[in-house]
Amino acid sequence: MAWIAEDRRQEQVTKGEPLLTEEMKSHLREKYFPRYPTKRAVLLPALHHVQHEYGWIPTQALQEIAEFLELAPAEVLDTASFYEEYWLKPKGKYLVQVCRSLSCEICDSRKLTDHVMKKYGIDVGETSADGRLTLVELECLGACGTAPVAGINDTLHEELTVEKLQQIIDGLPEDPHDYKDPTINFAEANGH
Ligand code: FES
Repeated sequence: MAWIAEDRRQEQVTKGEPLLTEEMKSHLREKYFPRYPTKRAVLLPALHHVQHEYGWIPTQALQEIAEFLELAPAEVLDTASFYEEYWLKPKGKYLVQVCRSLSCEICDSRKLTDHVMKKYGIDVGETSADGRLTLVELECLGACGTAPVAGINDTLHEELTVEKLQQIIDGLPEDPHDYKDPTINFAEANGH
């Protein structure tokens, strides 16, 4: 029986301007190379950096990261596809991540999810028609004492109600790069 090789890439690569720019490479070199014994160890920060810049990680960027860190492209793809937090297809400008674990569930996190689904006509995992929001549910975000919580991009919002969540969503700037919230930033807390 002949083997049929399936092409599992979501996107064909059309080489354009580099997505991993010289500026981004300098940032990674200066911030992360001195911290780790090998370039390979910089893979996760590099993936995070690209996703932070573009909102997701296109195949072209995976290849550029592989080249930059002297890794096989397959290895970079394997890592990126292993972690749920990396998006290998476009998503909305804002990722609304509602915690669905026990403490949050007891504190009505389901109401938050249901509200976003109904208000924007989407299911969990889907993006609103205007491309502004993508809704996902996550396991415990480590803030059980202030449940229910939800992350919006890199920012954690605690003690949420439906009204409070909607107010936050309504106040999100047009450009996600302008989104700075005074509350805990979990990307920074994780050293990214
Ligand atoms: Fe939601 Fe822990 S259960 S933060």
